[in-house]
Amino acid sequence: MKTTVKASSDLALIKYWGKKDDILRLPENGSVSMVLEELSTITTVEFSSEFQKDEIQIQGESDIGEVERVINHLDRIRQLIGSSLRARVVSQNSFPKGTGLSSSGSGFAALTLAATKALDLNLSEKQLSILARQGSGTACRCVCGGFVEWMDGETSDTSYSETFYQASHWELKDIIVVVDEGKKKISSTQGHESARSSIFYSTRLAKIDEKIAELKKVIGDKNFSKFGELIEGEALEFHSILLTSNPPLLAWYPGTIEVMLAVQQMRNEGIEAYFSINTGFNVHVISLPDNMDEVRKRLDKLSLVKKTMVSGVGNGPVYLDEHLF
Ligand code: PMV
Repeated sequence: MKTTVKASSDLALIKYWGKKDDILRLPENGSVSMVLEELSTITTVEFSSEFQKDEIQIQGESDIGEVERVINHLDRIRQLIGSSLRARVVSQNSFPKGTGLSSSGSGFAALTLAATKALDLNLSEKQLSILARQGSGTACRCVCGGFVEWMDGETSDTSYSETFYQASHWELKDIIVVVDEGKKKISSTQGHESARSSIFYSTRLAKIDEKIAELKKVIGDKNFSKFGELIEGEALEFHSILLTSNPPLLAWYPGTIEVMLAVQQMRNEGIEAYFSINTGFNVHVISLPDNMDEVRKRLDKLSLVKKTMVSGVGNGPVYLDEHLF
């Protein structure tokens, strides 16, 4: 059955960085994220005995590495029921891929749900999360909605994600500030491998469970100031690991720094907003809805900012009736 799924990407508030098992993609540490409604991937999958080989089309064009990763994931799913049917997969994003906005998260979440359903497999959210994780770490969170925790777990069966608050729990706005539209220079696959070479990495791991518990509490309390301090501090701690890894990973562009400084300046003036950054150069700026217009207006005026997009907290993936082919 041809199946189409729309899944959203997420913003890691506490980042997944480093793997204790490469093949199973078991993370060194747990992570927490919020799903981003506006950053989504729509994927249609169909299996048929008429297809001679898998045909993969991501955002119109697909490079060999990406196609191979998708086919490996299809193989993982086919193996569950011993199917040898080939598939056609067409996927489109509402945002640019490869720029550090976690398109692999929404992409592999949508692929996992669409491909399993297309093969008539009815899996639980936990099983889908475990499966999606093996395609892309972030995808294991994007199978869920709202505010999500990914448990690090020692085995494949214990490393999956769960929603701990629904999207409706807290209305936050993420202003995604684009300072460059090119591809990011840092590959997270390589970065996960070199994380351990940072002298700060073991200290980070020793304290991360405490940080996760604290963040879940401030989200529960809807304490925006504590939330903001925690997630901005986490983003800077994460980048200090990148900077001190061997080889050093410097993700920021001049525009990234301009945005970080502007956010801190806004706070000095009493406008509360906080930033987070993944492995790319674009910046996520989080504010409460009341402040959003003012924060965005100021960010739009910065000399190195190309554009801004806004997203609220989103729900989990949905099946769509309209297909991409
Ligand atoms: O899923 P990956 O391998 O692209 O790694 C994601 C890494 C971060 O975005 C930096 C953090 C995270 O938890 O999403």
